Amino acid sequence: MKKLIIVIMLVAFAFTVAYAADTVTYENKKGTVTFDHKTHGEKMDCAACHEGEPAKIEIDKEAAHGDSCKGCHKKESGPTKCNDCHKK
Ligand code: HEC
Ligand code: HEC
Ligand code: HEC
Repeated sequence: MKKLIIVIMLVAFAFTVAYAADTVTYENKKGTVTFDHKTHGEKMDCAACHEGEPAKIEIDKEAAHGDSCKGCHKKESGPTKCNDCHKK
């Protein structure tokens, strides 16, 4: 029984490390921004955003309107209009 619980915990742990949330939402007064992590990860290398071992990236307004989101959209023709990202 104990062994089974340990195996389940290991599997659950491996899962959370390998797969971040499919979508992440940032709620703010301009309108909620939905970041489709899964789709981004399928269209480009993890390394396009993550340095080394992928881990949480803090997204604040400055980061979002800079290189962490919008900066890349400008370069790679992603969405750059306010309402492309902010949805009320
Ligand atoms: C377009 C940029 C981008 C790409 C590509 C990307 N990620 Fe992320 N990733 C992020 C951002 C931004 C966050 C932080 C999300 C948040 O605010 O919780 C994140 C978070 C994570 C986390 C931490 C999750 C948490 O909640 O602690 C892991 C693990 C991760 N990504 C793995 C990956 C892997 C593996 C790939 C490639 C298959 C990948 N990422 C591709 C931007 C990206
Ligand atoms: C390294 C480049 C890169 C980064 C960083 C990046 N994106 Fe994108 N994103 C793209 C590209 C390229 C597209 C267009 C994909 C397409 O239309 O096929 C896109 C599309 C989108 C779209 C519209 C399609 C969809 O998934 O709904 C949204 C919204 C979006 N990104 C939000 C974000 C947010 C929020 C962040 C930051 C947390 C972010 N992106 C970071 C490259 C990037
Ligand atoms: C590429 C996606 C993207 C685009 C384009 C974008 N934003 Fe944002 N913006 C974000 C994200 C993500 C956040 C949230 C950061 C956070 O949660 O702290 C944000 C935060 C904000 C905030 C802060 C709200 C608060 O509660 O503090 C304002 C205001 C804002 N954006 C206005 C705009 C305006 C105006 C435009 C157009 C000129 C714009 N944004 C374009 C992604 C985007």
